[in-house]
Amino acid sequence: MNIRRKALSASALLAALLCCAAATAQERPGLLSAGDYAEGTLGMAQQPARVAPQPGSVYQVGKWPTYTADLAPGKGRDTVVGNCSMCHSVTYITMQPPLPAATWKAEVHKMIAVMGAPIQPAAEQEIVEYLQQHYTPETRKP
Ligand code: HEC
Repeated sequence: MNIRRKALSASALLAALLCCAAATAQERPGLLSAGDYAEGTLGMAQQPARVAPQPGSVYQVGKWPTYTADLAPGKGRDTVVGNCSMCHSVTYITMQPPLPAATWKAEVHKMIAVMGAPIQPAAEQEIVEYLQQHYTPETRKP
């Protein structure tokens, strides 16, 4: 009888602890900065100003983006989507800041030479031209 009562009060104590831990996690006291990957903010890399860290600060990241960005319409778009979404989403293209033409050429070559993308030379050329026509500082549309 006595043992049973002890077990009962131990489980009540455990339940109370769990309840308080959950409440604390939800309230996030001292939240300083929360990430936000809302669809509207991923068009271009937009880095918010850094928040100075303080002792006891709590950080929280936002929802992970689950959509894939639409690439600009134009010649070569299908070649890009077909070849550049084998390993990662084409959002990797749209989340870059506008890159100079030579950087895109080097970037595509890096995917082939370093990352092992199986892209044929003709397709490589078409992809580079597409990226240069739509994603440089001169050609990128907001
Ligand atoms: C064989 C797999 C593969 C293919 C195909 C591929 N990539 Fe990548 N890509 C990677 C890896 C691995 C990374 C680095 C991943 C990371 O840092 O998260 C990367 C990163 C990137 C980045 C971020 C900048 C960087 O250099 O890390 C860009 C931009 C990019 N890829 C563009 C492309 C484009 C454009 C294509 C099509 C020509 C392409 N990728 C095809 C594997 C690939």
